[in-house]
Amino acid sequence: MLADKYGRTFKTLRVSLTNACNLFCNYCTDQPASEKASQPEDNVLSTKDYIKIINSLHNRLNLETIRLTGGEPLLYKDISNLIEGIREIGIKNVKLTTNAVFLKEKAVPLKNAGITNINVSLDSLDPESFFKISKRRNLKKILEGIDHALAIGIPVKVNTVVMKGMNTDQILPLLEFARERSISIRFLEVMKMGHLHNSYQDLYFSQEEILEKIAEQHQFIPMDREHGATATYWITDKKQVFGIIANESHPFCGDCNRLRLDSYGNIYGCLSNDNGISIKDHSDDSLKLEYSLKQALLQKQEVQFAGSVMSMRYIGG
Ligand code: GTP
Ligand code: 5AD
Repeated sequence: MLADKYGRTFKTLRVSLTNACNLFCNYCTDQPASEKASQPEDNVLSTKDYIKIINSLHNRLNLETIRLTGGEPLLYKDISNLIEGIREIGIKNVKLTTNAVFLKEKAVPLKNAGITNINVSLDSLDPESFFKISKRRNLKKILEGIDHALAIGIPVKVNTVVMKGMNTDQILPLLEFARERSISIRFLEVMKMGHLHNSYQDLYFSQEEILEKIAEQHQFIPMDREHGATATYWITDKKQVFGIIANESHPFCGDCNRLRLDSYGNIYGCLSNDNGISIKDHSDDSLKLEYSLKQALLQKQEVQFAGSVMSMRYIGG
């Protein structure tokens, strides 16, 4: 098995389907919001390219999970065919992380294609702070998308990036939103990525502070952490489970099992490393692929997320 000296390997492949996004969230970009979604660039992979590369990676790594990300993956027009193709390869879990703006209309085709789980990025239930963060007014559509996906039986989780001066007052309402729907919610510490690389402290709200806020209304105890997980979970006295993804204060690199593929055919072994390794032209050459995977494995941080000047938009969270 391909593994580094800490026993880490690649079991989850996170696939970015596009750099484009239809929201302009403050943690991803400091550019002014334009009317249209940001556009993907040239030379991106086709569905056929993705399937060929994923198939080669699966043959070598016996992948358990594919997570489709972006940018915003629902902007990738051929997503249903891609999901079907991935299911045909025989990969058990095909998951999606989305801002859910198009979830209402895409939920049925996604389910029919074989999606197994969806994580929705939702940072506020308040239209004004939602707008302040995302520069868009489509909160209602997103909430409808979540409820529609749940109604047709797709398991949904919510991700909330908690930021000082932006949405800390949304922690308790979002927890209640998740409780009402019996879904899991994870609160994220803001990460030093992209334009926030050197200034993330201005927004940073720690795991400890998030727990203090939740403790104003709830009692809770920690749960056992799952191997390879990004989040640590707690359970309240009312049996609600919530998680925190504490990249800064409680890093989780030690058992990281994630590999990334961007929309140009580059792989990355770590979110902290923006040196993509191109496998587009040699994914079916087993010797060359092996060499590239070993290089990617060496990119993993030993202990702590080190940050990256690349925005999450290019590499999919
Ligand atoms: P589940 O399988 O549902 O637990 O999803 P996930 O947390 O693996 O995926 P998701 O796309 O929901 O990612 C949520 C957040 O986890 C991202 O925004 C990042 O903050 C963090 N994250 C995901 N992968 C990595 C990683 O490899 N390294 C670090 N440092 N953080 C990561
Ligand atoms: N810090 C924390 N989370 C981020 N995301 C994007 N950029 C950042 C950042 N700098 C989150 C999105 C989504 C997930 C995939 O990544 O909100 O939930």
